[in-house]
Amino acid sequence: MPVIEIDAQDAVFDCAPGDTLLRAGLRAGLGMPYECGVGACGCCRCEVIEGEVADQWPEAPGLSDRDRRKGRVLACQTRPLGDARIRLRLDPRIEPVVRPARRTARLAAVNDITHDIREFVFRSDAPADFLPGQYAMLALPGLDRERAYSMANLPNGAGEWHFRIRRVIGGGASEALFSQLAPGAEIGLDGPYGMAWLRTDSPRDIVCIAGGSGLAPMLSVARGVAAEPSLAGRRVDFFYGGRTPADICGQPELAALPGFGEAIHYHAAVSDADAAHRAGWSGQIGPIHQLVESTLGERLGSAEFYLAGPPPMVEALQQLLQLTHKLPPERIHFDRFF
Ligand SMILES: Cc1cc2nc3c(=O)[nH]c(=O)nc-3n(C[C@H](O)[C@H](O)[C@H](O)COP(=O)(O)OP(=O)(O)OC[C@H]3O[C@@H](n4cnc5c(N)ncnc54)[C@H](O)[C@@H]3O)c2cc1C
Ligand code: FES
Repeated sequence: MPVIEIDAQDAVFDCAPGDTLLRAGLRAGLGMPYECGVGACGCCRCEVIEGEVADQWPEAPGLSDRDRRKGRVLACQTRPLGDARIRLRLDPRIEPVVRPARRTARLAAVNDITHDIREFVFRSDAPADFLPGQYAMLALPGLDRERAYSMANLPNGAGEWHFRIRRVIGGGASEALFSQLAPGAEIGLDGPYGMAWLRTDSPRDIVCIAGGSGLAPMLSVARGVAAEPSLAGRRVDFFYGGRTPADICGQPELAALPGFGEAIHYHAAVSDADAAHRAGWSGQIGPIHQLVESTLGERLGSAEFYLAGPPPMVEALQQLLQLTHKLPPERIHFDRFF
């Protein structure tokens, strides 16, 4: 098994066959920087100083031409072919709380949520060990690459993993899930991953903001707040942004939580004004960040934020929170769904 040394950081780890540098480092408990795990964000860039490696996605958008000229690689897309020495900055603050592991899981149930989002429930023999807000990498039959999907439920000993997946027309994984996978079918499930997990030690009110398929991890965070005795009575403002009224979802699940309407509040906005008028939508129209700002008012400055959804939504919210309202980055936890 290849042995990987991190230059000048006194850290060495084994890389199991088929693992990338990133996943092996996280399995060893190291604070390797990353976000998406799928080659898109660029957060896991590093340098290979010694040793041979294979790049599983040479065109990955997470690397610029300049990065490539400088010999940088993405740790999430790089497999060592033997022992290697790499250079990156470990951060002890991001060491995985739950170390990721590979499992087999079987499809147990499928439920419609909206016209294009379905809930897929998988069951594994091993416990479903993760923090609310994290994601797993699913290896689906017939696809050579795994995809990232966030859990919507809470960790549990029964091995249940609930995902909310949006159908992408022509998309490899979503078409496999929506059209091909039958109950009982086996898949590979590797996780948990992701840094946008619920912080139970923060004294602040909590704001969850989801767009599109970003619903799943935000539901998990809200459910985590409701289930955590130390957070009893904590205010949660849950925002959901969709393009049309038919996309709006999440309220029934929140309404099932203790404290809904008192401590837990749901807000939704639709961005397509024509579709909203055609459907007789009487709620808010516009991008979700505008609704967040107008609803929270002065409370915005003192809250802890969790965000999940398409990169433009997350970037508009970062602009609002960090640039306009000067919130420190450690109060904003997010996953961009590339
Ligand atoms: C952290 C994270 C969490 C996510 N959580 C959810 C969720 O809870 N629900 C949800 O619906 N979606 C989620 N997504 C999006 C999801 O992972 C998929 O991108 C989406 O379902 C579309 O996948 P697809 O296979 O159907 O589409 P495709 O267009 O086939 O693939 C989508 C992406 O997979 C990658 N990819 C495709 N082919 C290759 C290849 N040959 N080599 C390398 N990479 C390739 C590319 O990044 C591409 O953009 C999440 C994404 C991330 C990063
Ligand atoms: S974590 Fe590797 S590119 Fe996002």
